[in-house]
Amino acid sequence: MKQDNILVLDLGSHDNTRITRLIRDLGVYSEIKPHDITKEEIATLNVKGIIINGGENNIIDGKEIDVNDEIYSLGIPVFAVGHKLAKVDNKSSWATTDEDIKEELKVFIFDECRAEKNWNMKNFVNDQVEIIRQQVGDKKVLLALSGGVDSSVVAALLIKAIGKQLTCVHVNHGLMRKGESEDVIEVFQNQLNANLVYVDATDRFLGKLENVSDPEQKRKIIGAEFIRVFEEEARKLDGIEFLAQGTIYPDIIESGTKTAKVVKSHHNVGGLPDDLQFQLVEPLYQLFKDEVRACGLELGLPHDMVYRQPFPGPGLGVRCLGAITRERLTALREADAILREEFASHGLDQKVWQYFTVIPEFKSVGVKNNARCYEYPIILRAVNTIDAMTATIEQIEWPILLKITDRILNEVANVNRVCYDLTPKPCGTIEWE
Ligand code: XMP
Repeated sequence: MKQDNILVLDLGSHDNTRITRLIRDLGVYSEIKPHDITKEEIATLNVKGIIINGGENNIIDGKEIDVNDEIYSLGIPVFAVGHKLAKVDNKSSWATTDEDIKEELKVFIFDECRAEKNWNMKNFVNDQVEIIRQQVGDKKVLLALSGGVDSSVVAALLIKAIGKQLTCVHVNHGLMRKGESEDVIEVFQNQLNANLVYVDATDRFLGKLENVSDPEQKRKIIGAEFIRVFEEEARKLDGIEFLAQGTIYPDIIESGTKTAKVVKSHHNVGGLPDDLQFQLVEPLYQLFKDEVRACGLELGLPHDMVYRQPFPGPGLGVRCLGAITRERLTALREADAILREEFASHGLDQKVWQYFTVIPEFKSVGVKNNARCYEYPIILRAVNTIDAMTATIEQIEWPILLKITDRILNEVANVNRVCYDLTPKPCGTIEWE
């Protein structure tokens, strides 16, 4: 790694990620490392400065933890954040705004550490291209390309670095949104000239899901079948030695540090059988989500792909409630496309975090063309959140809601009613299943 690096040593503070982010905002690379990192490890990282950030969780197995004393003898400037601010404001953690903290950090990073402002996406891409070429040599790499932000950016980066040595496998589980698989083919096969294996596994997935109504069971079936299809495709390809994954920095942080409990274990394409052993290529592991998007733009990916709203792995499968039928799935997909179109034309796609449609299993009575009809309702949901742990609903303007309702009722078959979900999280989760 060529960029200058400011290490934040983890002594159990909740502010570690915030400090790392702020340093990167100043144009210098920064990452969190365990409190007991050795001087040998530090020597491999081009470290220009070390920040020690004492915090609320600094007890492991009943003992207070501290850094290795040897870090003080490296000739690298060390800044004890918690202690310094304790003197300033009599508090044990940052009680100031991001701008105040940046001012303090600037003095340390630029005056004391003499770090260079060389963290930007152009440099990141150039460095990663070199690193990937060195790691992979002339060997072949496989990638499960879902069309989500992370896998799309990994694909674009690897195509730039190693071109046709990369094979992307896109599994369409039949639960994608309208036009999504087509976009993947258009961008990666037609525009970027990638080796793309497209697998339309719709019949297979919908067959396995027939009459299955339990949400957890549905998720398990979709996850397991995905791995099976991917594995079958991997076996058809010769001489693959590497598997690329869209692991990003929050996945690594969330997998748990020494001081934090494991929030969730990180895995993307997990669960491949033992005889399919690959070495991993994870070129985005340093990046926060917004940096991943910036990297995608730097690589020339379309704005819509890079700013795609979050979409669950099981796709429309968890929005077509209960046992999935093709009839309801089609209605759901068409209604979702209308919602997305209207959100985009009113600029709401730039503002609202996640928005989608849901279709329940029950029908209700209505009238269409002067005749009684018995059809499904469509539920609209639009929420805002920071971390998906809690969420508030978007207060969509009435005329926009009416326009969406009107279009769904006129354009989508088997639907005679539209409802707007007003439930915040808690107590409703964002998804309905
Ligand atoms: P909930 O419904 O739990 O959702 O409030 C929080 C966020 O997570 C997404 N989500 C999933 N993402 N696989 C995923 O990759 C899943 O099984 C899954 N379930 C929920 C959801 O869309 C929301 O953004």
